[in-house]
Amino acid sequence: MRIDRPAELGERAARAIDRQDWLAPVEDTLQEAIGAAYRAGGAVGQRVKDFLHGTWLGHPLHPVLTDVPIGAWTTALVFDVLDRSRRHGWWTRRALQRRADDAITVGVVGAVGAALAGITDWQHTRGGARRTGLAHAALNTVALACYGGSLALRARGARAEGRSLAYAGYAVLLASAYLGGRLVYHHRVGVDHAERDAAPAEFARALRDAELPEGQHRRVEVAGVAVLLVRRAGRVHALGERCSHMGGPLAEGEVWDDSVVCPWHGSRFALEDGRVLGGPATMPQPCFETRVRNGWIEVRRAADALAAA
Ligand code: FES
Repeated sequence: MRIDRPAELGERAARAIDRQDWLAPVEDTLQEAIGAAYRAGGAVGQRVKDFLHGTWLGHPLHPVLTDVPIGAWTTALVFDVLDRSRRHGWWTRRALQRRADDAITVGVVGAVGAALAGITDWQHTRGGARRTGLAHAALNTVALACYGGSLALRARGARAEGRSLAYAGYAVLLASAYLGGRLVYHHRVGVDHAERDAAPAEFARALRDAELPEGQHRRVEVAGVAVLLVRRAGRVHALGERCSHMGGPLAEGEVWDDSVVCPWHGSRFALEDGRVLGGPATMPQPCFETRVRNGWIEVRRAADALAAA
């Protein structure tokens, strides 16, 4: 078998991972265990879960945290290489070694945080994304073990062996980073799934007013965009119907007080402005202005969305 390009190698590896169907029971068990752990924590567990998803940040937290181990372990690699070379610049050898050790320690702490955020996001994945995410987590665990072992060896004075283990960990980290990129760019994990820019700028008819009784919600299409209409306390609210988390159908969810709950993973969005009230979603739903004219409910993009456009 001849492989011409690194991209082809990555693609073949990713497809091979996808084919490992024997992992499905493991994935089911792990996802159920993660979900059960958060549920057992009640309201506190939900807050921790939302924090690790990045609901408070308006962006997934995991990719932010992964920069810590990648940056720190790259720094350690540079100091290790300098330590091995004859050119130390203005640093003493001992100073280089201390900085490499410190960078590895920072990376280990960051990797633990990134892992917690990563498995929290992973519990909601399915299909190829779930399989790729599991492989990504396994490689990260190996990288973390290499760096932990490297620190232990360095502490015992076995610096050369510690450096070798760190180099191995870095190689595993690069392979894992490839899979992390594939999760985002191929499987679209962590990206915004809401239809945000296509809604009409001018009011357009969505539904006959009589077809949306008080307390009801309906899915309609306006200019090719799926919109959720909710009539509550005499007021008509309109949000993007496709959930920003993974595209779940909000019209099949429940309306609770002044919010709608996604039927797929339970994200909760305010009817008033689409903001996230509960994760795993991190990005708000598109919100539309509504009015009733000549017996029709009409919608258009909200004024702030138009201003941003
Ligand atoms: S698709 Fe996951 S919460 Fe809506």
